Amino acid sequence: MSRKDDHLREAMTQSIVPNDFEGVRFVHPSLPTVNVANVDTSVELFHRRFAYPVYINAMTGGTRQAKAINSRLGKLSARFGLMMASGSCSVAMNDPSTAHTFTPIRDENPEGFIAANIGVSAPVAYAQQAVDLLAANALQVHLNAPQEVAMDEGDRDFTFWPDNLAAMVRAVNVPVIAKEVGFGMSRETMRRLQKLGVKHVDVSGRGGTNFIAVENARSASPMEGFATHGLSTVESLLEAREVDGMTVLASGGVRHAYDVVKALALGAKAVGMSRFFLECARETSLATAVTRVETMLMDVKKIMAVLDCQTVDALPRVAMIFSGELASFMRQRGLM
Ligand SMILES: Cc1cc2nc3c(=O)[nH]c(=O)nc-3n(C[C@H](O)[C@H](O)[C@H](O)COP(=O)(O)O)c2cc1C
Repeated sequence: MSRKDDHLREAMTQSIVPNDFEGVRFVHPSLPTVNVANVDTSVELFHRRFAYPVYINAMTGGTRQAKAINSRLGKLSARFGLMMASGSCSVAMNDPSTAHTFTPIRDENPEGFIAANIGVSAPVAYAQQAVDLLAANALQVHLNAPQEVAMDEGDRDFTFWPDNLAAMVRAVNVPVIAKEVGFGMSRETMRRLQKLGVKHVDVSGRGGTNFIAVENARSASPMEGFATHGLSTVESLLEAREVDGMTVLASGGVRHAYDVVKALALGAKAVGMSRFFLECARETSLATAVTRVETMLMDVKKIMAVLDCQTVDALPRVAMIFSGELASFMRQRGLM
């Protein structure tokens, strides 16, 4: 399954690009009243309280390298009590001899909250099998049409996706999170997902790992120009404000604590990072990785204190200013 190792290599070599988080600014309060030591970063999600509003998002499985990364990520998720999603589990259903490359996620974190991940085009039965593989607490179903068309060996027929997704929601005994893979979600998409029974989304928007670029690098016929496609994570969160009754998680281009705080202020209930945790997993020692995660999580607390917010709930009340491009997006989409 060298495609998975290709993804790891290409994702790590992508340059970090400026993204829409830079177009979001807080109105700075110069006289905050909060003690960093008292900042409470906890959030409630899926009837569980998490100490931090950050999760390790879907990445890998299926190869020896993937197993080592999953083991490291599993240790980090256990250490900090972070929710963690696996990479797409289809490979383990197609070839059960690879299941052991996923299971360290659960073995390293027996009590943790784990989401299994599966593609929307997989056989419906795979959904519960993926949940069972990891004794998972939730299922992420990824929606990745741009990646599929950019992949030489990818899917071309999307006609059955809505029905397949609805069937997966009915088939599993855990909450389903419909997840993009870096191209964002509009409010129209979120409302369509709601009609299919989905109550949780991960908008995973443009601005970070770009799977059109990743596939272009592997392809005999790269899709020129297409890598700019998609809605950014910030744009997707602005869209999500218009959708009632949906739990919205955010990922895509979240590089550091300041982006985490901005995503929370824009209404995300929790914030996923892939590239950041991949870099941590590849640190030379676990201790170095732990320090890096610890520093990032402490930075979230420091920034919240500067913004005069003792709890995550307070963040959406901080006044924000949007760049001209984001303001134009909001005007054109009827969001202001
Ligand atoms: C190496 C790698 C593999 C990935 N594999 C999956 C996958 O199997 N399923 C999925 O839903 N998303 C997958 N993703 C997408 C991420 O979960 C996330 O949506 C995307 O990378 C944007 O986040 P980032 O900018 O923090 O990397 C993968 C990302 C990376 C970097």
